[in-house]
Order: sequence, then C-alpha cells, then structure tokens
Amino acid sequence: MTNGKSVMTELVLPNDTNIIGNLLGGRLLHWIDISGALAATRYANGLVATLTMDTVEFTRPIKMGSIVTLISYVTWTGNTSMEAAVEVYAENPGVSDKVFVTKVYLVFVGIDGEGKKRRVPAFTPQSAQETQEFEDAAQRKSARFALRKEFPAQ
Ligand SMILES: CC(C)(COP(=O)(O)OP(=O)(O)OC[C@H]1O[C@@H](n2cnc3c(N)ncnc32)[C@H](O)[C@@H]1OP(=O)(O)O)[C@@H](O)C(=O)NCCC(=O)NCCS
Repeated sequence: MTNGKSVMTELVLPNDTNIIGNLLGGRLLHWIDISGALAATRYANGLVATLTMDTVEFTRPIKMGSIVTLISYVTWTGNTSMEAAVEVYAENPGVSDKVFVTKVYLVFVGIDGEGKKRRVPAFTPQSAQETQEFEDAAQRKSARFALRKEFPAQ
C-alpha cells in the first residue's frame, strides 16, 4: 500500500492575491485542502471528507506570478480516519528559487456515496521518515482531541 503521494502545481494569478500582490491565505488553505484530499482519496480508493486541518503558519509571502507546488501524502490511519501531510513550496521563475513555505497536517475521513463513514486500509510506514511521522502522529492526534474538548462541536 503506497501513501497516496500527490503533487499539485498552481500559478499565482492576480485573482489569487491581495492588493499588494501576495497570495491570499485563504486561497492557499483551499489548495492545501485539495492537495491533502488528493492523497487521502488515492490512499483510501474512494471518497473522503476533510475533518480537520492543523494550525498553518504563513512565514513568507508568495508573490503574484509564483509557481506553488503542494506535495501531499498519508502519514497515519485509524479506523475511518487518515492523517495527511501537505508540504508547500514556491518559486518565482527568473526572480527566486524554489523555497519551502510551510507544512500542514490534515485529517480526512473515508466516506461512502451517502456521506457515511467507512473504514480505510491500515497504513504501514515503509521508510524511516514515514515511520517517524507515523509515530509522531499520536502526539498530533492528542493535541487535536484536547482542542476538541476545549471547543466542542455544537
Ligand atoms: C467526517 C464525518 C463523516 C465523521 O463523522 P463523525 O460521526 O463526526 O465522526 P466520529 O466522531 O465518529 O470520528 C470519525 C473519525 O475521526 C476521528 N476524529 C474525530 N474528531 C477528530 C479530531 N478533532 N481530530 C482527529 N481525529 C478526529 C475519530 O477518532 C474517528 O477516527 P477513527 O474511525 O479512525 O477511529 C462527519 O463529521 C462529517 O460529515 N463532517 C463534515 C465533513 C465536511 O463536510 N468537510 C468539509 C468541510 S465543511
């Protein structure tokens, strides 16, 4: 079983930017969601729903005209839920080389055509890096549940 790795590439156009020509945070969040969903869908061989996205830090602006690459892959699975990582890189051809922008973890749930949860295949890490992320996922999961307790769904 592979980790569903997906690569998505976007060009930052005027409609994606704020008034000083930097990529809108909301647009990047949308791309991160789609990118994570690509890996989760591939991995789970079917429909998925986004359950949660961890905190995202925008540590550097991405200028209009940049090419944004989003690399996503599944890092952990439970019964119906999966964690996916999304790495974001940006390059501005002729202006700046490709740089790392941010890395985000999201949780997706496998669903059927009626939106009901379904089991997903168990993930077995293959490399040292996959094993590390898989083990660290327990801590990220605890942090999400702590937050859920603090702000319960209504
Ligand atoms: C996704 C959905 C079907 C899950 O149904 P649910 O009854 O709420 O799910 P549960 O509480 O039983 O949790 C399902 C899984 O998610 C996990 N989970 C729930 N809350 C979590 C959280 N805050 N962080 C991490 N995992 C979480 C549970 O542990 C469970 O995992 P497991 O089956 O691997 O053990 C339902 O919440 C839904 O339809 N949400 C809307 C999805 C959507 O529309 N997303 C787009 C953005 S609006």
